[in-house]
Amino acid sequence: MRRSSSSLLLLFFLPPLALALPHTPQTTAPEKRQYESPVTIDRAQAVIDAFRLSWDGYYKYAFPHDELHPVSNTFSDSRNGWGASAVDALSTALVMRQKDVVNQILEYIPTIDYTTTATEVSLFETTIRYLGGMISGYDLLSGPLADLAENKSNIAALLTQSINLANTLSYAFDTPSGIPYNGLYLPTRSVNPSPNGLATTGTLILEWTRLSDLTGNATYAFLAILAESYLLAPAPKWSEPWPGLLGTNIDVATGDFLDAEGGWVGGADSFYEYLIKMYIYDPERYALLRDRWILAADSSMEYLASKPLTRPDLAFIAAYNNRTVVKESQHLACFSGGNFILGGQVLGRQDYIDFGLALVEGCRATYTSTVTGIGPEIFGWDADKVPAGQESMFNASGFYILNSGYQLRPEVIESYYYAYRATSDRKYQDWAWEAFVVINQTTRVGSGFSSVRDVNKVGGGSKSNFMESFWFAEVLKYSYLIQTEGEEWQVGGKGDGWVWNTEAHPFKVAGKGGRR
Ligand SMILES: *[C@@H]1O[C@H](CO)[C@@H](O)[C@H](O)[C@H]1NC(C)=O
Ligand SMILES: *[C@@H]1O[C@H](CO)[C@@H](O)[C@H](O)[C@H]1NC(C)=O
Ligand SMILES: *[C@@H]1O[C@H](CO)[C@@H](O)[C@H](O)[C@H]1NC(C)=O
Ligand SMILES: *[C@@H]1O[C@H](CO)[C@@H](O)[C@H](O)[C@H]1NC(C)=O
Ligand SMILES: *[C@@H]1O[C@H](CO)[C@@H](O)[C@H](O)[C@H]1NC(C)=O
Repeated sequence: MRRSSSSLLLLFFLPPLALALPHTPQTTAPEKRQYESPVTIDRAQAVIDAFRLSWDGYYKYAFPHDELHPVSNTFSDSRNGWGASAVDALSTALVMRQKDVVNQILEYIPTIDYTTTATEVSLFETTIRYLGGMISGYDLLSGPLADLAENKSNIAALLTQSINLANTLSYAFDTPSGIPYNGLYLPTRSVNPSPNGLATTGTLILEWTRLSDLTGNATYAFLAILAESYLLAPAPKWSEPWPGLLGTNIDVATGDFLDAEGGWVGGADSFYEYLIKMYIYDPERYALLRDRWILAADSSMEYLASKPLTRPDLAFIAAYNNRTVVKESQHLACFSGGNFILGGQVLGRQDYIDFGLALVEGCRATYTSTVTGIGPEIFGWDADKVPAGQESMFNASGFYILNSGYQLRPEVIESYYYAYRATSDRKYQDWAWEAFVVINQTTRVGSGFSSVRDVNKVGGGSKSNFMESFWFAEVLKYSYLIQTEGEEWQVGGKGDGWVWNTEAHPFKVAGKGGRR
């Protein structure tokens, strides 16, 4: 899942001046190993065990609040107080076939009052976590996993509650341009007047369109495509510094972009992701979005592909500000490898797949180069801007750390998953397992798993006592599915009947029998 870079939570977790100490980079494990299938089976079970441990901790100490504080065994409500972790965990409990957990969540969802909450609601976060979680649950339970629901009326309730939620949120789009406000205060039906962002505007179309296709109410899709139309033909001209690559902030009144700064980074990221995913969702309706993805992909390969001076064997994808390349990237941006691989498969373009695989290796290096074996939140590789004390790291590893936190994010393992699905090369299963083992080692605490402040210190520095709902939705799902085969919802490229939202919730595609 991609995030708005202005997330308050992110600020909250910024480590205090986390200057990484010089250290000896770990030697990377040899890539050629002997593989035996029983190992694969044990790995999948170990991920299920971690899911159950996390769920039990959440259920005991936090449910039905949004998330668990695993160190103190308390809870918080950072996502509207509607039980974000429960709704976000549903599709993972389903694909892992954890029937008892599935039914705990299914019994809870019909009781949520989606019409109000005391805190500011993010249209984007609410769409990708709650709406995405319920729609995916509905698609899986109306299809291949129907046998997991003990009470069939709870399946229908997933769709009714999706309608209730979307109807509550839909006033966000009631603006002069049709670009929605992202910040909503439900009790007064008022808004936070801040400009919207590229990711927060452009990561609604899959969920809202799927809801229209499932319900027959065309309004949801109409609202989302109207907003998207400003992103497909951006104005003013200078806000598109290279073909397909856009600025980030958008004036809600006019639909005009306010800057020319961006990349595959937080704040922009999942707009690009959804261009190709909408084409997978329905190639007939969304060919224009495919064409815009191709423009962005080609420009990125031409202008943003970047090799660190000290490690020319690695590939990173840079950010930009109006045609000035900024040699910085993020854990969030590591989804891009997987997205290039997906686009390459769907479009039959080996060059996109090869570029994506190179980005996957670059992001792996951010993991294998730190003390914990987990990659940092933000990193850079500009030889002129190496922070004091990080020269030896830059020399040996090709990058330096700008924010050393790890917030249980999925993107590196997510891209391993796409790489494995595209190549069947088992080294990606190994890489995902290595990552899972060190994440377990570093973040497991008390009743669950916690964000940590410094991936370049033994034990991750200190724990920030927060278990994000996307730990359930994404990290555990990708870690599990990469070690298993054969299910129809697995990402497979051409002929695929499912497409995943940015929170890793699988949706049935419309173009190949998914439309009801
Ligand atoms: C089944 O679920 C519905 C809500 O979806 C609820 O009203 C009903 O009481 C449940 N039935 C049983 C037997 O638990
Ligand atoms: C369709 O959705 C819109 C947007 O939420 C809502 O205002 C409208 O009442 C819905 N139409 C029907 C027939 O339910
Ligand atoms: C980007 O650069 C162009 C040409 O140098 C300039 O006209 C434009 O104002 C710049 N845009 C921003 C947002 O700085
Ligand atoms: C890093 O590499 C540069 C260029 O080779 C060298 O001058 C410098 O001493 C190195 N620094 C450290 C700390 O290794
Ligand atoms: C995860 O950590 C726990 C506690 O340290 C340990 O018992 C378990 O074996 C670990 N699991 C994996 C898969 O490494």
